Amino acid sequence: MHDLMQMRLANPSSQHADGRKARLIVEQARDTILRLCGARTVGMESDQLLFTSGGTEANNLAIFGLTQLQPGAIVVSAIEHPSVLESVTHAASQGRPVHFLPVNQNGVTCLESLESLVGQHHHGAPIALVSIMLANNETGVLQPVQEAAQMCRRSGVLIHTDAVQVLGKVKLDFASLDVDAMTVTAHKIHGPVGIGGLILRHGIQVAPRSFGGFQQLGLRPGTEMPVLAGGFEEAVLSATTDLESRTKAMQGMRDMLQNEIQRLVDGCFVAGELSPRLPHTLSISFPGVERQALQLALDMAGIACSTGSACASGSSQSSHVLEAMHLPQEVIKGGIRFGVSIETTEADVAAAAEQLSLLVPKLRQGRPSRTAK
Ligand SMILES: Cc1ncc(COP(=O)(O)O)c(C=O)c1O
Repeated sequence: MHDLMQMRLANPSSQHADGRKARLIVEQARDTILRLCGARTVGMESDQLLFTSGGTEANNLAIFGLTQLQPGAIVVSAIEHPSVLESVTHAASQGRPVHFLPVNQNGVTCLESLESLVGQHHHGAPIALVSIMLANNETGVLQPVQEAAQMCRRSGVLIHTDAVQVLGKVKLDFASLDVDAMTVTAHKIHGPVGIGGLILRHGIQVAPRSFGGFQQLGLRPGTEMPVLAGGFEEAVLSATTDLESRTKAMQGMRDMLQNEIQRLVDGCFVAGELSPRLPHTLSISFPGVERQALQLALDMAGIACSTGSACASGSSQSSHVLEAMHLPQEVIKGGIRFGVSIETTEADVAAAAEQLSLLVPKLRQGRPSRTAK
């Protein structure tokens, strides 16, 4: 990106030499990202990538843009990212029927009700769109998107998947997933914040959400961003090169973190442990501990974790993902999430586990007893 910034790039839509240079960079990035996500880039049936400001915008574009021209309900899993859940809640407030698919205790979306919903599609109860994330951002649990896509395909229903967490973590193949649209973002793979994209299968129509420019076929207008696009391309290239060994390395660190914590801290619970999950995510709970107190204490010790969605007041809503899995309230209250990356070291993992072994018993002790006034 630094190199690109030195190149005197102009607006990629300008006809002069500096504009054309920028156009090349944007289009090369589009092509590489599509190809490395397993989309078709050659021939008459090429898939399309619309650059957006990130995953949130791409999910909004999918939910609203793919349904604007279609009557019927939207079906999503109960554990989607807020950028999907709040989009469909907004659509529901405008009169759109919405169905939420439940998940089981292992964090996997149950497709039984999807089967009957898309089955009804033939009988006058149309489904406009199904959206199921490819892997959950809190538990890392992989979701049965390919199976859902087959059901949708049989009934002629559109399907979108949010693959933000999957790109660069395990193999991602748009074509074999057989979905109509897929969301990706750069900043989850060490790329720049501020760019993501919606991949659309050849021929899929999306209605724009913003207006006022002809860029990207007018479907997502606004001056394109060569430096961010080039940064996204570079991030996808490095995250997908030697993917298998990267996956193994991340999984090794995550498993070591999980094992170390389980060895040093009594009574912890790993959400989604029994399901196939991404290699870098650990959703772990310490019943008897308030997750926010734990996060604060870990932060003071220099260890970063997350607690789901925090609001400005400093209190946080409990995780809708753990709630949807119907885990006990004590587990939900004490649940935090760690992510490792290819840069995480054994020393990082050991330090996190050690801090937890010191902090969890203290926080459990400090808890007011149930009977205290
Ligand atoms: C599964 C999932 N979808 C969407 C997003 C939103 O992406 P962005 O931060 O690029 O808007 C995130 C990241 O926070 C995510 O984890």
